[in-house]
Formats: sequence, C-alpha cells, structure tokens
Amino acid sequence: MNTYANPRIAVVGATGAVGTTMLSILEERKFPLDDLRLMASSRSAGRTLDTKWGSIEIEDLASADPSNVDIALFSAGGARSLEYAPHFASAGATVIDNSSAFRMDDTVPLVVAEVNDEAIESHEGIVANPNCTTMVAMMAAGPLHRAAGLRTMIATSYQAVSGSGHTGVAQLASEIDFFEKNQDALVSGGWEEPDGDLYARPIAYNVLPLAGPMSDAGYTEEEWKLVHETRKILDRDDIKIEPTCVRVPVMVGHGIAANLWFDRPVDLDEAVAVLGEAPGMQLWDDTKVPTPLDTVGTDDVLIGRLRETIGHPGGISLFAIGDNLRKGAALNAVQLAELLLS
Ligand SMILES: NC(=O)c1ccc[n+]([C@@H]2O[C@H](COP(=O)([O-])OP(=O)(O)OC[C@H]3O[C@@H](n4cnc5c(N)ncnc54)[C@H](OP(=O)(O)O)[C@@H]3O)[C@@H](O)[C@H]2O)c1
Repeated sequence: MNTYANPRIAVVGATGAVGTTMLSILEERKFPLDDLRLMASSRSAGRTLDTKWGSIEIEDLASADPSNVDIALFSAGGARSLEYAPHFASAGATVIDNSSAFRMDDTVPLVVAEVNDEAIESHEGIVANPNCTTMVAMMAAGPLHRAAGLRTMIATSYQAVSGSGHTGVAQLASEIDFFEKNQDALVSGGWEEPDGDLYARPIAYNVLPLAGPMSDAGYTEEEWKLVHETRKILDRDDIKIEPTCVRVPVMVGHGIAANLWFDRPVDLDEAVAVLGEAPGMQLWDDTKVPTPLDTVGTDDVLIGRLRETIGHPGGISLFAIGDNLRKGAALNAVQLAELLLS
C-alpha cells in the first residue's frame, strides 16, 4: 500500500453535496495536502471555488490529466467512477470512491473507518466507501459483531433527501413551499401533486417506503446494498439480513432502527460496555433521543434506544443516526485518506 506524507489530492465531483462537504472536512481536519485539484462536469468547468488552499479553478473531469495525483476522492456518480477511476489508478493515484461502482469487486476493499481499517491494506489502487445507510449501521453493528459475532440483522432505514444529492434537498424544499400554501388539504384531504419526479411519491409531509430503484425479489438496490455490503465489511457471508429502506422528509441524517442477534446472547450491560468504548460514536441513554437534527453537521454517529429484544430474546435493538454527507460519505472518505498518510 502506498502511503504519502503530503499527498496531492483531487476531489472529483467537487461541486456536489458530498464533494463540497469533503472540501470542508479536509479543511477542518487540517489535512496535510501538498496540492488540491477540483474536478466536476463540463457545466462547472472554469468556475472557481474558494478553499483554504486558495481559489481553485474547476477542471472538466472528461479532459483532466490524471497524472500528478496521489489520492483521488471520487463522488461524481457511479458512471464517472466506472469510466475514470481506473485511469486515475493506472496513472498512480489511490482512488477512494464514494459510488457503488466497485464496492462488491473482490479486488476493492470496502472500508468503514474505525470499523475495518485493516481492509484498506489490500487495495490495488481503488478503495470503496460504503453506502451511507450501511455506514451508519456498521458503526453500531461492527463493534458488537467483533464482540459476539453478528448472525441476524433486521433493519429499517430512515433516509434523508440529501442522500439523493443537491437535487433531493431542492425537491424537499420546493414541496414544503408547495404544500404550505394549502395546509388544510394535508389534514382534510384533497391535496394536489407537487411538480417533480425525483421520488415515486411526494416526499414533503410524507414517508416513502421505497428508497432507490427496485431490484431483485421485490427489494430495492438500497436494500441489497445493506445486505451485501454488511457481509463484506464484517467479513461474514452468512449474516442473515432483512432490510427495509425508507425515504423520509429530512434534509440530512440517515437513521437506522436495527434488531441484532449474535452467535450467543448479548445483554444490555455488555452492549453498553462495547458501544460505550467504540470510536466515532456517542451512546445516548433514554434521557436523550438521537434525531437527524442532532446529527447534522457532526462527525459522530449517535446511538440510542438501546435495549434487549423482547419478541425473540437474546439480541439487542437500537437506533443509530449519522450525517449521511459526513460519516455517510465525505468524512469516511477523508478518514480513509488519512489511513494512507505515512
Ligand atoms: N449524498 C449522499 O448522502 C451520498 C452518500 C454516499 C455516497 N454518495 C455518492 O456520492 C456521489 C455524489 O453524490 P452527491 O450527493 O454529492 O451528488 P450531487 O450533489 O448531485 O453532486 C454530483 C457531483 O458529480 C458531478 N458530476 C455529475 N455528472 C458529471 C460528469 N458527467 N462528469 C463529471 N462530474 C460530474 C457534479 O458536477 P456538476 O456540478 O458539474 O454537475 C457534482 O459535482 C454519488 O455517487 C453518490 O451515490 C452520496
């Protein structure tokens, strides 16, 4: 594995929801970079972004020279990752990719910082950042798995609209404006459809039990990601996972309600002891309720509602929530870049 003292960084997708968060996090964490390049589509090329490292002109990814980059942080969508990440890797860069393009590739480690850091050492030029919902779930399930061996997880996500990028945030904001003009209809019925087809149904004042495109066996791509990525990150193929992914009218903060069973019974005291010591999270007792608003703009994943299962005893139920743009994407990518620092 290449390590770097003061790497030359490229942020690909620098104008997006994740890319702009990456720039703030690089700055906040005083990342010791030697050079910063910003790339996006031809729509943004030529514009400049103000950063701690000066005002930097955005390059068109399609024509950008991939040489002289040590670490490329990709968050420009799966199609761009598939097309350009291998060029950056062959030109000598280590790519940290936020899309789903390479996550299940056997030669690409899938790494949640502070959960399975050791996996990054096997990379061959590309490292994958997990899906934002899986990431939040793993911050809770990972430490418990190390202690007792995760066998079964039933999980329901509550995913924010910023998981769909800037367009998700804009869609929710415009639907809130639209519905507020006729609030009575939200109580009495007779509401009208807002514009926009980003989601299958209106998202404002609503809950959509369908996040992401439909895939095999009646489960969505988001749900299959939770299944496959969990098994890969925890390095156990026989974990039984029952996922339901739901989109909620929240700007930022993906939550997950999970019921977890292990190779042996785990009681509340043990779960508190394990999670209380785990890095990157705060364990909240029942006097505090972790919500999306508590997590927005913060790095830690918040875990609350910790309790022993009652329907099928021996397991642990909990609610975990994290900022999907930070730990769910940009922060984890920067933490992986930090693992590459010598
Ligand atoms: N949002 C999340 O919570 C989250 C979490 C984990 C992973 N991700 C992944 O991160 C990636 C970006 O997500 P996002 O939420 O930041 O989306 P976004 O806000 O829509 O931003 C997309 C970014 O990709 C760039 N882009 C689009 N088409 C391009 C092209 N043809 N060539 C070069 N750049 C192009 C855009 O540049 P322009 O501004 O020039 O169009 C923009 O910088 C996606 O792969 C997503 O799955 C997102």
